[in-house]
Amino acid sequence: MTDIRLYLSEMKRTVEGWLRQCLPEPEAFSMRLFDAMQYSLFSGGKRLRPILLVSTANLFSGGDGALVRDFACAVECIHTYSLIHDDLPAMDNDDLRRGRPTCHIEFSENLAILAGDALLTLAFELMSRPSAPERRQRQLEALNEVAVKAGCLGMVGGQCADVLASGGDGGEQLVRFIHARKTGALISASIAAGAILAGASDSEVESLCNFGDKIGLAFQITDDLLEIDGDTKTLGKSVGSDVKNNKITYPAVVGIDRARSEAQKTVAESLGFLERFGERAAVLNGIAHFFIDRVN
Ligand code: IPE
Ligand code: IPE
Ligand code: MG
Ligand code: MG
Repeated sequence: MTDIRLYLSEMKRTVEGWLRQCLPEPEAFSMRLFDAMQYSLFSGGKRLRPILLVSTANLFSGGDGALVRDFACAVECIHTYSLIHDDLPAMDNDDLRRGRPTCHIEFSENLAILAGDALLTLAFELMSRPSAPERRQRQLEALNEVAVKAGCLGMVGGQCADVLASGGDGGEQLVRFIHARKTGALISASIAAGAILAGASDSEVESLCNFGDKIGLAFQITDDLLEIDGDTKTLGKSVGSDVKNNKITYPAVVGIDRARSEAQKTVAESLGFLERFGERAAVLNGIAHFFIDRVN
């Protein structure tokens, strides 16, 4: 039985070591950009997407360490960019993230926009790094998976529906659409990329994507619930942001009790997609439970 919290904290340290190596050398006249990128990237996130990517790759034997590391850093860069832009005044207008002032508060809005742009672009630089010829087909497939799920049909599309729904009432179908995309898509892409890079079959990738979709939804429902019963200090971000912005959230649509039971049911369903991997999937199983048990 894996102690999942210990595993996550050890993996977080490992991923942060990789992240430190992936930032390019700063240049004199754009030093503030690098400061802002570094500030947001190293301000204490849980690193769950890169950890999922590596943990999924570890289910299989065909992974190339350097490629897996580059993709792991890439999904964290995309996630961090999404948080910087999500906090901007034109989006959720939040001033606290990962326990510190948000990027635009610390650096100004123009630098926050540019730091987000640069992190997103850096992700593609990392994922397209030259690799051995026999690796390239899978590298391209994994890159495509991340690109599609981070873009207009995935995370950005979900963010669009989220901001347009502010103040609106779209029901459970809309909130599921938003959560699957704004949060679920990058989580599922991280899992799929790890599987693809490590040599999984199409059918194994499909099972893992289904698993990722389920835990991604459960993760965001839990996020909505933590905004209600969590506290700002533990969360490192302002509770009450959803109410302030009149957001459509899962508990707002179905009530707190149903939201909680839906998150539990969704995780239980996710585990069905891991069955074919047996004991090898113990870590992913533990992460799925952590997604709804977490306090931040
Ligand atoms: C927060 O994600 C934003 C959502 C997509 C819900 P995380 O809870 O993974 O944020 P960090 O990376 O740990 O700060
Ligand atoms: C963030 O969703 C999703 C993305 C950044 C893609 P939320 O706006 O609900 O998350 P928090 O509460 O700011 O972390
Ligand atoms: Mg938001
Ligand atoms: Mg937000």
